[in-house]
Amino acid sequence: MISRDIDRAAEHLRQGRTVVIPTETVYGLGADATNARAVEKIFAIKGRPKNHPLIVHIGDSSGLAAWAEEIPPAARRLAGRFWPGPLTLVLPRRRSVLPEVTGGQNTVALRVPDHPVTLRLLQAFGGGIAAPSANRFGQLSPTSARHVQDEFGESAGMILEGGPCSFGVESTIVGFREDKPVLLRPGAISSGTIEAFLGVRLLRNGAGQNEMRVPGSTLSHYAPKTPLEVLSTDDIPYRLLYLTARGQKAGLLSLSRDRKGPASEKETVFSMPMEAIDYGRVLYSILRSFDRAGLERILVESPPRTTEWEAVNDRLARAALHPLIPECPAPPAREIPR
Ligand code: TXA
Ligand code: MG
Repeated sequence: MISRDIDRAAEHLRQGRTVVIPTETVYGLGADATNARAVEKIFAIKGRPKNHPLIVHIGDSSGLAAWAEEIPPAARRLAGRFWPGPLTLVLPRRRSVLPEVTGGQNTVALRVPDHPVTLRLLQAFGGGIAAPSANRFGQLSPTSARHVQDEFGESAGMILEGGPCSFGVESTIVGFREDKPVLLRPGAISSGTIEAFLGVRLLRNGAGQNEMRVPGSTLSHYAPKTPLEVLSTDDIPYRLLYLTARGQKAGLLSLSRDRKGPASEKETVFSMPMEAIDYGRVLYSILRSFDRAGLERILVESPPRTTEWEAVNDRLARAALHPLIPECPAPPAREIPR
Protein backbone atom coordinates (compact mmCIF):
# COMPACT_ATOMS: atom_id res chain seq x y z
CA MET A 1 0.00 0.00 0.00
CA ILE A 2 1.50 3.28 -1.03
CA SER A 3 1.45 6.30 1.27
CA ARG A 4 -0.31 8.30 -1.41
CA ASP A 5 -3.41 6.09 -1.09
CA ILE A 6 -3.41 6.44 2.69
CA ASP A 7 -3.12 10.23 2.42
CA ARG A 8 -5.89 10.36 -0.16
CA ALA A 9 -8.15 8.18 2.04
CA ALA A 10 -7.47 10.43 5.06
CA GLU A 11 -8.38 13.44 2.92
CA HIS A 12 -11.63 11.75 1.84
CA LEU A 13 -12.51 11.20 5.51
CA ARG A 14 -11.78 14.86 6.32
CA GLN A 15 -14.05 15.89 3.45
CA GLY A 16 -16.89 13.82 4.91
CA ARG A 17 -16.69 11.01 2.37
CA THR A 18 -16.81 7.28 3.09
CA VAL A 19 -13.78 5.02 2.71
CA VAL A 20 -13.76 1.21 2.71
CA ILE A 21 -11.15 0.01 5.21
CA PRO A 22 -9.52 -3.41 5.55
CA THR A 23 -9.39 -4.92 9.01
CA GLU A 24 -8.20 -8.28 10.32
CA THR A 25 -11.86 -9.41 10.72
CA VAL A 26 -13.91 -8.06 7.78
CA TYR A 27 -13.82 -4.94 5.61
CA GLY A 28 -15.55 -1.86 7.09
CA LEU A 29 -17.42 1.05 5.52
CA GLY A 30 -15.79 3.98 7.32
CA ALA A 31 -16.49 7.66 7.88
CA ASP A 32 -15.31 10.41 10.24
CA ALA A 33 -17.04 9.48 13.53
CA THR A 34 -17.42 13.16 14.48
CA ASN A 35 -19.18 14.18 11.25
CA ALA A 36 -22.93 13.42 11.45
CA ARG A 37 -23.52 13.90 7.73
CA ALA A 38 -20.65 11.58 6.85
CA VAL A 39 -21.97 8.95 9.28
CA GLU A 40 -25.44 9.23 7.76
CA LYS A 41 -23.93 8.26 4.40
CA ILE A 42 -22.92 4.90 5.89
CA PHE A 43 -26.53 4.14 6.81
CA ALA A 44 -27.78 5.21 3.38
CA ILE A 45 -25.20 3.12 1.49
CA LYS A 46 -25.82 -0.01 3.59
CA GLY A 47 -29.59 0.39 3.89
CA ARG A 48 -29.10 0.01 7.61
CA PRO A 49 -31.74 1.09 10.18
CA LYS A 50 -30.65 4.30 11.96
CA ASN A 51 -30.89 2.83 15.46
CA HIS A 52 -28.13 0.29 14.79
CA PRO A 53 -25.00 1.66 16.46
CA LEU A 54 -21.57 1.64 14.79
CA ILE A 55 -18.14 0.66 16.07
CA VAL A 56 -15.66 3.54 16.33
CA HIS A 57 -12.19 2.42 15.21
CA ILE A 58 -9.33 4.21 16.97
CA GLY A 59 -5.55 4.19 16.48
CA ASP A 60 -4.55 3.05 19.96
CA SER A 61 -5.93 2.66 23.47
CA SER A 62 -4.75 6.13 24.52
CA GLY A 63 -7.69 7.35 22.41
CA LEU A 64 -10.21 5.56 24.68
CA ALA A 65 -10.78 8.51 27.01
CA ALA A 66 -11.83 10.76 24.12
CA TRP A 67 -14.87 8.51 23.54
CA ALA A 68 -15.61 6.70 26.80
CA GLU A 69 -16.78 8.45 29.96
CA GLU A 70 -15.88 5.53 32.21
CA ILE A 71 -13.42 2.72 31.66
CA PRO A 72 -13.94 -0.27 34.00
CA PRO A 73 -10.65 -1.90 35.15
CA ALA A 74 -11.49 -5.08 33.21
CA ALA A 75 -11.93 -3.00 30.04
CA ARG A 76 -8.48 -1.49 30.50
CA ARG A 77 -6.95 -4.91 30.97
CA LEU A 78 -8.71 -6.27 27.88
CA ALA A 79 -7.59 -3.30 25.77
CA GLY A 80 -4.02 -3.75 27.02
CA ARG A 81 -3.99 -7.43 26.13
CA PHE A 82 -6.05 -7.65 22.92
CA TRP A 83 -5.58 -4.31 21.12
CA PRO A 84 -4.81 -3.95 18.31
CA GLY A 85 -7.09 -6.91 17.67
CA PRO A 86 -10.56 -8.30 17.02
CA LEU A 87 -12.15 -7.22 20.31
CA THR A 88 -14.76 -4.44 20.58
CA LEU A 89 -15.48 -2.84 23.96
CA VAL A 90 -18.87 -1.23 24.63
CA LEU A 91 -18.41 1.52 27.23
CA PRO A 92 -20.43 4.44 28.64
CA ARG A 93 -20.04 7.18 26.06
CA ARG A 94 -18.86 10.73 26.45
CA ARG A 95 -21.62 13.27 25.88
CA SER A 96 -19.81 14.55 22.80
CA VAL A 97 -20.21 11.24 20.92
CA LEU A 98 -22.76 11.64 18.14
CA PRO A 99 -26.13 9.91 18.60
CA GLU A 100 -25.85 8.92 14.91
CA VAL A 101 -22.90 6.73 15.91
CA THR A 102 -24.39 5.21 19.08
CA GLY A 103 -27.90 4.63 17.73
CA GLY A 104 -29.11 6.91 20.54
CA GLN A 105 -27.72 4.58 23.24
CA ASN A 106 -25.66 5.86 26.16
CA THR A 107 -22.75 3.59 25.27
CA VAL A 108 -20.17 3.60 22.47
CA ALA A 109 -18.44 0.61 20.85
CA LEU A 110 -14.65 0.99 20.36
CA ARG A 111 -11.85 -1.06 18.91
CA VAL A 112 -8.28 -0.77 17.62
CA PRO A 113 -8.15 -2.90 14.46
CA ASP A 114 -5.06 -4.98 13.78
CA HIS A 115 -4.40 -4.17 10.16
CA PRO A 116 -1.32 -2.24 9.02
CA VAL A 117 -3.18 -0.27 6.31
CA THR A 118 -5.99 0.89 8.58
CA LEU A 119 -3.63 1.62 11.48
CA ARG A 120 -1.67 3.88 9.14
CA LEU A 121 -4.89 5.50 7.96
CA LEU A 122 -5.99 6.11 11.57
CA GLN A 123 -2.65 7.75 12.24
CA ALA A 124 -2.81 9.93 9.13
CA PHE A 125 -6.44 10.90 9.81
CA GLY A 126 -5.91 11.48 13.52
CA GLY A 127 -9.51 10.79 14.59
CA GLY A 128 -11.98 7.94 15.06
CA ILE A 129 -13.47 6.10 12.08
CA ALA A 130 -17.03 4.85 12.53
CA ALA A 131 -17.40 1.69 10.46
CA PRO A 132 -19.84 -1.18 10.22
CA SER A 133 -19.06 -4.15 7.99
CA ALA A 134 -19.06 -3.03 4.34
CA ASN A 135 -22.06 -5.05 3.15
CA ARG A 136 -25.75 -4.33 2.59
CA PHE A 137 -27.78 -4.65 5.78
CA GLY A 138 -28.34 -8.27 6.80
CA GLN A 139 -25.97 -9.73 4.19
CA LEU A 140 -22.63 -11.48 4.55
CA SER A 141 -19.68 -9.39 5.68
CA PRO A 142 -16.94 -8.89 3.04
CA THR A 143 -13.58 -10.54 3.67
CA SER A 144 -11.83 -9.12 0.61
CA ALA A 145 -11.81 -5.82 -1.28
CA ARG A 146 -13.26 -7.73 -4.23
CA HIS A 147 -16.38 -8.64 -2.22
CA VAL A 148 -17.00 -4.94 -1.55
CA GLN A 149 -16.36 -4.00 -5.16
CA ASP A 150 -18.79 -6.72 -6.34
CA GLU A 151 -21.50 -5.58 -3.93
CA PHE A 152 -21.20 -1.79 -4.17
CA GLY A 153 -19.08 -0.88 -7.20
CA GLU A 154 -18.11 2.77 -6.80
CA SER A 155 -20.97 3.67 -4.45
CA ALA A 156 -19.15 2.82 -1.21
CA GLY A 157 -16.40 5.38 -1.98
CA MET A 158 -12.68 4.76 -2.12
CA ILE A 159 -11.71 1.14 -1.34
CA LEU A 160 -8.38 0.64 0.42
CA GLU A 161 -6.98 -2.73 -0.67
CA GLY A 162 -5.65 -4.70 2.29
CA GLY A 163 -5.67 -8.29 1.07
CA PRO A 164 -7.85 -11.09 2.41
CA CYS A 165 -8.92 -10.72 6.06
CA SER A 166 -6.91 -12.90 8.41
CA PHE A 167 -9.87 -13.81 10.71
CA GLY A 168 -12.87 -13.54 8.38
CA VAL A 169 -15.34 -13.42 11.30
CA GLU A 170 -16.34 -10.15 13.01
CA SER A 171 -14.84 -8.95 16.29
CA THR A 172 -15.93 -10.27 19.69
CA ILE A 173 -18.03 -7.60 21.47
CA VAL A 174 -17.80 -7.21 25.26
CA GLY A 175 -19.88 -4.76 27.31
CA PHE A 176 -19.97 -4.17 31.07
CA ARG A 177 -22.73 -4.43 33.64
CA GLU A 178 -21.66 -2.89 36.96
CA ASP A 179 -18.06 -3.32 35.79
CA LYS A 180 -18.58 -7.04 35.07
CA PRO A 181 -17.79 -8.12 31.49
CA VAL A 182 -20.73 -9.31 29.36
CA LEU A 183 -20.35 -11.15 26.03
CA LEU A 184 -22.53 -9.21 23.56
CA ARG A 185 -21.42 -10.95 20.36
CA PRO A 186 -19.16 -14.00 20.04
CA GLY A 187 -16.42 -13.30 17.51
CA ALA A 188 -12.87 -13.77 16.34
CA ILE A 189 -11.43 -14.07 19.89
CA SER A 190 -13.13 -16.96 21.67
CA SER A 191 -14.92 -16.31 24.95
CA GLY A 192 -12.69 -19.01 26.49
CA THR A 193 -9.57 -16.99 25.65
CA ILE A 194 -11.04 -13.85 27.23
CA GLU A 195 -12.22 -15.73 30.31
CA ALA A 196 -8.83 -17.40 30.77
CA PHE A 197 -7.13 -13.99 30.59
CA LEU A 198 -9.53 -12.20 32.98
CA GLY A 199 -9.95 -15.19 35.29
CA VAL A 200 -13.75 -14.69 35.38
CA ARG A 201 -16.67 -16.03 33.39
CA LEU A 202 -18.25 -13.60 30.93
CA LEU A 203 -21.91 -12.84 31.67
CA ARG A 204 -24.26 -13.57 28.80
CA ASN A 205 -26.66 -11.02 27.44
CA GLY A 206 -29.84 -12.93 28.28
CA ALA A 207 -33.33 -11.47 28.53
CA GLY A 208 -33.42 -9.30 31.62
CA GLN A 209 -34.18 -5.77 32.61
CA ASN A 210 -30.55 -4.71 32.26
CA GLU A 211 -30.14 -6.36 28.91
CA MET A 212 -27.96 -4.38 26.51
CA ARG A 213 -29.35 -3.79 23.08
CA VAL A 214 -27.14 -5.24 20.33
CA PRO A 215 -28.93 -4.77 17.04
CA GLY A 216 -27.55 -7.32 14.65
CA SER A 217 -27.75 -9.97 17.32
CA THR A 218 -31.42 -10.79 17.00
CA LEU A 219 -32.43 -10.60 13.35
CA SER A 220 -31.59 -12.92 10.53
CA HIS A 221 -28.17 -11.55 9.74
CA TYR A 222 -24.85 -12.49 8.20
CA ALA A 223 -26.95 -14.41 5.67
CA PRO A 224 -26.22 -15.61 2.15
CA LYS A 225 -28.96 -15.08 -0.44
CA THR A 226 -29.43 -18.83 -0.80
CA PRO A 227 -31.52 -20.46 1.97
CA LEU A 228 -29.22 -22.30 4.36
CA GLU A 229 -29.78 -25.19 6.76
CA VAL A 230 -27.46 -26.54 9.45
CA LEU A 231 -27.81 -30.31 9.83
CA SER A 232 -26.23 -33.13 11.79
CA THR A 233 -23.76 -35.40 10.00
CA ASP A 234 -26.34 -38.21 9.97
CA ASP A 235 -29.12 -36.13 8.43
CA ILE A 236 -27.07 -34.77 5.53
CA PRO A 237 -27.26 -37.68 3.06
CA TYR A 238 -31.05 -37.86 3.46
CA ARG A 239 -31.55 -34.15 2.98
CA LEU A 240 -29.28 -34.11 -0.08
CA LEU A 241 -31.25 -36.96 -1.62
CA TYR A 242 -34.54 -35.29 -0.80
CA LEU A 243 -33.49 -32.02 -2.47
CA THR A 244 -31.69 -33.40 -5.51
CA ALA A 245 -34.47 -35.92 -6.18
CA ARG A 246 -36.72 -32.86 -6.54
CA GLY A 247 -34.34 -31.32 -9.04
CA GLN A 248 -32.90 -28.76 -6.62
CA LYS A 249 -29.25 -27.76 -6.79
CA ALA A 250 -27.68 -28.03 -3.33
CA GLY A 251 -24.28 -27.07 -1.96
CA LEU A 252 -22.76 -28.71 1.10
CA LEU A 253 -20.17 -27.39 3.54
CA SER A 254 -18.79 -30.71 4.70
CA LEU A 255 -16.65 -31.49 7.75
CA SER A 256 -16.52 -35.24 7.22
CA ARG A 257 -13.33 -36.36 5.54
CA ASP A 258 -14.73 -39.77 4.68
CA ARG A 259 -17.69 -38.40 2.73
CA LYS A 260 -17.90 -39.70 -0.82
CA GLY A 261 -17.84 -37.19 -3.66
CA PRO A 262 -21.07 -35.68 -4.98
CA ALA A 263 -23.68 -38.35 -5.69
CA SER A 264 -25.29 -36.28 -8.44
CA GLU A 265 -24.45 -33.33 -10.65
CA LYS A 266 -27.01 -31.34 -8.61
CA GLU A 267 -24.63 -31.47 -5.67
CA THR A 268 -21.60 -29.27 -4.92
CA VAL A 269 -19.52 -30.36 -1.96
CA PHE A 270 -16.94 -28.15 -0.28
CA SER A 271 -14.61 -29.74 2.22
CA MET A 272 -14.29 -27.22 5.07
CA PRO A 273 -11.22 -26.77 7.30
CA MET A 274 -11.37 -28.80 10.53
CA GLU A 275 -10.06 -25.97 12.79
CA ALA A 276 -12.53 -23.27 13.84
CA ILE A 277 -10.15 -20.40 13.08
CA ASP A 278 -9.49 -21.68 9.53
CA TYR A 279 -13.19 -22.44 8.99
CA GLY A 280 -14.13 -18.89 10.04
CA ARG A 281 -11.54 -17.37 7.71
CA VAL A 282 -13.10 -18.92 4.59
CA LEU A 283 -16.78 -19.22 5.58
CA TYR A 284 -18.18 -15.97 4.13
CA SER A 285 -16.22 -16.18 0.93
CA ILE A 286 -17.43 -19.75 0.30
CA LEU A 287 -21.04 -18.77 1.05
CA ARG A 288 -20.63 -15.91 -1.45
CA SER A 289 -19.32 -18.31 -4.09
CA PHE A 290 -22.30 -20.62 -3.42
CA ASP A 291 -24.62 -17.63 -3.94
CA ARG A 292 -22.92 -16.90 -7.27
CA ALA A 293 -23.25 -20.56 -8.32
CA GLY A 294 -27.05 -20.22 -8.35
CA LEU A 295 -27.73 -23.03 -5.85
CA GLU A 296 -31.20 -23.43 -4.40
CA ARG A 297 -30.12 -24.61 -0.97
CA ILE A 298 -26.95 -24.60 1.14
CA LEU A 299 -26.55 -27.42 3.66
CA VAL A 300 -24.00 -27.06 6.43
CA GLU A 301 -22.69 -29.97 8.45
CA SER A 302 -23.04 -28.85 12.06
CA PRO A 303 -19.61 -27.98 13.56
CA PRO A 304 -18.60 -29.05 17.12
CA ARG A 305 -20.27 -27.12 19.97
CA THR A 306 -17.04 -26.14 21.81
CA THR A 307 -16.16 -22.49 22.64
CA GLU A 308 -13.63 -22.24 19.79
CA TRP A 309 -16.56 -22.80 17.42
CA GLU A 310 -18.91 -20.37 19.20
CA ALA A 311 -18.61 -17.52 16.66
CA VAL A 312 -18.92 -19.83 13.64
CA ASN A 313 -21.98 -21.55 15.19
CA ASP A 314 -23.49 -18.14 16.02
CA ARG A 315 -23.12 -16.86 12.43
CA LEU A 316 -24.43 -20.12 10.95
CA ALA A 317 -27.47 -20.01 13.23
CA ARG A 318 -28.27 -16.44 12.09
CA ALA A 319 -27.64 -17.28 8.44
CA ALA A 320 -30.08 -20.18 8.83
CA LEU A 321 -32.86 -17.86 10.02
CA HIS A 322 -33.53 -17.15 6.39
CA PRO A 323 -36.99 -15.74 5.83
CA LEU A 324 -37.29 -17.47 2.46
CA ILE A 325 -36.87 -21.05 3.66
CA PRO A 326 -40.20 -22.71 3.02
CA GLU A 327 -41.24 -25.47 5.39
CA CYS A 328 -39.34 -28.49 4.14
CA PRO A 329 -39.98 -31.46 6.44
CA ALA A 330 -37.54 -34.33 6.69
CA PRO A 331 -38.61 -37.02 4.25
CA PRO A 332 -40.31 -40.09 5.71
CA ALA A 333 -37.87 -43.03 5.78
CA ARG A 334 -39.68 -45.01 3.07
CA GLU A 335 -38.97 -42.28 0.49
CA ILE A 336 -35.24 -42.90 0.71
CA PRO A 337 -34.01 -45.23 -1.99
CA ARG A 338 -31.49 -47.79 -0.86
O1 TXA B 1 -15.09 -6.94 13.22
C1 TXA B 1 -15.93 -6.06 13.31
O2 TXA B 1 -16.48 -5.79 14.38
C2 TXA B 1 -16.29 -5.29 12.03
C3 TXA B 1 -15.07 -4.48 11.60
C4 TXA B 1 -15.36 -3.60 10.41
O3 TXA B 1 -14.61 -3.72 12.68
N1 TXA B 1 -17.40 -4.43 12.27
C5 TXA B 1 -18.67 -4.88 12.41
O4 TXA B 1 -19.58 -3.85 12.51
O5 TXA B 1 -18.96 -6.07 12.45
P1 TXA B 1 -21.15 -4.07 12.42
O6 TXA B 1 -21.74 -2.72 12.47
O7 TXA B 1 -21.45 -4.91 11.25
O8 TXA B 1 -21.47 -4.80 13.76
C6 TXA B 1 -21.27 -4.08 14.95
C7 TXA B 1 -22.12 -4.62 16.03
C8 TXA B 1 -23.60 -4.44 15.74
O9 TXA B 1 -24.28 -5.65 16.03
C9 TXA B 1 -24.00 -3.34 16.71
O10 TXA B 1 -25.31 -3.49 17.14
C10 TXA B 1 -23.02 -3.55 17.85
O11 TXA B 1 -21.83 -3.85 17.20
N2 TXA B 1 -22.85 -2.29 18.61
C11 TXA B 1 -22.29 -1.15 18.19
N3 TXA B 1 -22.37 -0.20 19.14
C12 TXA B 1 -23.00 -0.76 20.20
C13 TXA B 1 -23.39 -0.30 21.47
N4 TXA B 1 -23.16 0.95 21.86
N5 TXA B 1 -24.03 -1.15 22.30
C14 TXA B 1 -24.26 -2.43 21.91
N6 TXA B 1 -23.91 -2.92 20.70
C15 TXA B 1 -23.29 -2.11 19.86
MG1 MG C 1 -22.34 -6.13 9.94
